[in-house]
Amino acid sequence: MIKIHQFEAIVVGGGGAGLYAALALSQAKVQTAVLSKLYPTRSHTGAAQGGIGAALANKEEDRPEWHMFDTVKGSDYLADQDAVEILCKEAVTTVYELEHLGLPFNRTQDGRIDQRRFGGHTKEFGKGPVQRACFAADRTGHMILQTLYQQCIKNEVKFFDEFHVVDLIIEEQICRGVIAYSIETGELHIFHAKAVLFATGGSGRMFKITSNAHALTGDGMAIALRNKIPLEDMEFFQFHPTGIYKMGILLTEACRGEGGILRNKNGERFMERYAPNIKDLAPRDIVSRCIYLEVRDGRGIDGKDYVHLDLTHLGKEVIEKKLPDITDFVRTYMGLDPVKDLIPIQPTAHYSMGGIPTNVNAEVVWDEKNSVLKGFYAAGECACVSVHGGNRLGTNSLVDILVFGRRAGLSMAEYCKKTEFSPLPSNPQTKIQAQIEQFKSKSNGEKISTLRQELQETMMDLVGVFRTEAGLKKAQEKVRELKKRFQNISLSDKSQVFNSELLDALELGNLITLSLVTIASALAREESRGAHYREDYPKRNDQNWLKHTLATLSEIGVELKYKNVVIKNFQPQERKY
Ligand code: FUM
Repeated sequence: MIKIHQFEAIVVGGGGAGLYAALALSQAKVQTAVLSKLYPTRSHTGAAQGGIGAALANKEEDRPEWHMFDTVKGSDYLADQDAVEILCKEAVTTVYELEHLGLPFNRTQDGRIDQRRFGGHTKEFGKGPVQRACFAADRTGHMILQTLYQQCIKNEVKFFDEFHVVDLIIEEQICRGVIAYSIETGELHIFHAKAVLFATGGSGRMFKITSNAHALTGDGMAIALRNKIPLEDMEFFQFHPTGIYKMGILLTEACRGEGGILRNKNGERFMERYAPNIKDLAPRDIVSRCIYLEVRDGRGIDGKDYVHLDLTHLGKEVIEKKLPDITDFVRTYMGLDPVKDLIPIQPTAHYSMGGIPTNVNAEVVWDEKNSVLKGFYAAGECACVSVHGGNRLGTNSLVDILVFGRRAGLSMAEYCKKTEFSPLPSNPQTKIQAQIEQFKSKSNGEKISTLRQELQETMMDLVGVFRTEAGLKKAQEKVRELKKRFQNISLSDKSQVFNSELLDALELGNLITLSLVTIASALAREESRGAHYREDYPKRNDQNWLKHTLATLSEIGVELKYKNVVIKNFQPQERKY
């Protein structure tokens, strides 16, 4: 017998967006459960290092309007400016609320929240870098998770840890709950709800070199897609400039915010040539491309595909006090000491700007007219509201998960209060049950790890920082082949309890689907904007492409439609730094 649970609100995902939504719901006395495939404090929010951007003006003059300008310019004008306005204004109140909830921010000498520089954040509409990132050493995301988790426990949110959500229950355009797989027992559970939030994170595991944890396989996005909900702007995938060479582990942009410098094989501070005004603190899309250009022009270190991050001039005290985690990473994983050694780095797949389309209240919208799908919400990296457009600024992911996670909780609470439970359809689990049985029934099929490796290498080589039509077509062909071979995978572990191989299979299926959508969206967009750089179309083309992509899956493959970008105060301009 399948277990059925009933809660007014279900939150899927135990990262910052999910926890803040759950907290807002429980404070509004809505009966709430969080389903998380990991123990919540192991969620990927914990890997966000350098800070959360908010114009508090604690170190120098700053304003939310300047933050808005930077975010829109950083997005290469693809962000929706109504959403950006909310993001930058509510960033300030959100940071103070977190402080009051107990988050241990670093402090200025006079006891206020300390702030530092980050890429693309400027004063007076681009005049020069500004100190806007509020931080807790280089563990800001970790501290957010601890703070919000403790508050959720205090407010009696119910947690279902190690529950992997495998499907949505939608009937007559109303979301009625989710189906989840208990990793511990191998059983399927139905969660009947009035409102469901997906806060399931990103899909960086599509790529070989990534800062993303193993769990970041785009599950929520792929489930939405299978339920005929489009994904928005999936061609925009951010590479963070400073991943540890070959491993992809993140070395926070705060390294450069504190004064760190990128150097090529000649020891040259090459960013001076590309972004004379803000240099190493240019937005990530630009810095990542510049690193690749240096490598292509033969200025990588020892003829290889990496450059150096130089922190040595910052001194032991700044490095160890303000960047303790990355100091540890460099010492542990590389056997180097950032106090005296140069650090080998390369761009690492970091963040999906695209995702499940939502309005500013985190309600999922399913067409070009922004029609709302009742009872279904999304927030955080799996969602696209869209505040990041073609390229996200550092620190704005934490702002996004908190501002829109909280807004999701508030609007779900309002919805739950005025809505009755819609009845469940009979046996909504049939399809996913059949899929699981199919995985388990096969023997001597393809190995999951082989397919995953081929997928990640293809995406890295052909759908990464630089793209061309020929490369994207080659990638499309390869991923279509992988999709066919995926039908023939077999598991060596047929057991019920903690069957991580079955989880790997479900996750690989999601990654393949999302890769196909990313490639199709990238192939169609014949321009370069933000993180989507087409060598065959190197210029931005506002006349034809100032629009959001909406990709759906059908029998014949990926279908693309487009919707308008919301422009308010900031008209598109040439992007110079
Ligand atoms: O560089 C970092 O600390 C990452 C932050 C972010 O992605 O916003």
